Amino acid sequence: MKILVVGGGGREHAIVEAVSRSKHADKIYCVPGNAGIAELAECAPIGVMEFDRIAAFAKEKEVDLVICSQDDPLCAGIVDRLEEEGLRVFGTRQNAAIIEGSKSFSKNLMKKYGIPTAAYEVFTEADKAKEYLKSYNKFPVVLKADGLALGKGVLICNSLEEALAGVDEIMLDKKFGTAGNEMVIEEFMTGREVSVLAFVDGHNYKLMASSQDHKRAGDGDTGLNTGGMGTFSPSPFYTEEIDRVANETIYRKTVDAMAAEGRPFKGVLYFGLMMTAEGPKVVEYNTRFGDPETQVVLVRMKTDIIDVMNAVIDERLDEIDLEFEDKAAVCVVLASGGYPEHYEKGKIISGLDKFAEADDCYCFHAGTAFDAQGRVVTSGGRVLGITAKGDDLSAARKRAYEATEWVDFDGKYMRHDIGKAIEERV
Ligand code: AMP
Ligand code: GLY
Repeated sequence: MKILVVGGGGREHAIVEAVSRSKHADKIYCVPGNAGIAELAECAPIGVMEFDRIAAFAKEKEVDLVICSQDDPLCAGIVDRLEEEGLRVFGTRQNAAIIEGSKSFSKNLMKKYGIPTAAYEVFTEADKAKEYLKSYNKFPVVLKADGLALGKGVLICNSLEEALAGVDEIMLDKKFGTAGNEMVIEEFMTGREVSVLAFVDGHNYKLMASSQDHKRAGDGDTGLNTGGMGTFSPSPFYTEEIDRVANETIYRKTVDAMAAEGRPFKGVLYFGLMMTAEGPKVVEYNTRFGDPETQVVLVRMKTDIIDVMNAVIDERLDEIDLEFEDKAAVCVVLASGGYPEHYEKGKIISGLDKFAEADDCYCFHAGTAFDAQGRVVTSGGRVLGITAKGDDLSAARKRAYEATEWVDFDGKYMRHDIGKAIEERV
């Protein structure tokens, strides 16, 4: 098969790596890709929102399958558009991608179908939101812009003052753009967070191995929210008992709810869960593989990813036995100094060749490009996702941190406590 992957981040590098292990993959293309993906796939400089150009490229190359796992194009209808052109696509159609694209949609869905989540109210007017906050008077409180905001449209406010300013930021200053035309105010939950990804074919679902992200920029979960600074898989906090409960109260109900709403969900459904004292609750849904969760989940997946994706498209996921290695994986993100705020680009990256001979170590490129001389340089906030597998989480963590020393670039920044919670568990 000829396969086209849409995107150019660390998640897409991990997807391309998994596709490259498939017995079905003869040729892989990627748009726009990045310097690391270019080692496994032929990349073309087409943006993820350029649906017409992507369709034309896929047809010209006679691609058998297009894979898209990025929120913006999915919510804007890339799957519907490419299917109209007769292409075979793995990804979520627009009418189901709304589960990520609108927080008010997903919150209302959970309320309607009795899926456990934080209590909330939806607002379309800043004044009403402020009035509500004044009577709410329980802090911290969580404010969320309704739409897509690069994972950054969530404010956790510790006082009424902060919350009122937050409403202004989201609804009046439009800090997150039109994502802030509507907002959700919700109860603050406490507990461990776990990410659970599932393949879903509209009716059947198969869970992937659990993982955990680290969203804050600094050690000890301090600093600003980022796209994700590192992950580990599996999560020891995701126990068999929690899995049993979540299957019953969350996963089955969500998949059935979407079908009942006439929005059958196909693709990858990401459950962001909080392990609260009252049991697992949904923090958020995403309509795609997580980034950087994918970098620790797919490296452990034994089942051929193209077999799974074909089964999703053909609605026969029940026939698939989804298997994961009994190993652990840890991903440490190397970012550009200053991320998630201002940072510089174009820094030369050295030491990348060391990964070629290292077993169970991966260097997933997120923000990299080639400069005019063909050297690999930084081109984004999150630059590389250094990933390693080991017999257990401690071994994987040690190996991943060793491998972070192999590469260097000006301003290289990372957290030093990815997966540390595992060691503190005992
Ligand atoms: P989201 O984009 O909805 O995943 O939110 C980003 C992060 O904010 C989550 O990963 C949580 O750490 C935090 N968060 C979101 N909603 C809540 C909540 N209701 N209670 C506590 N933390 C939350
Ligand atoms: N790692 C969180 C996300 O992909 O949204």
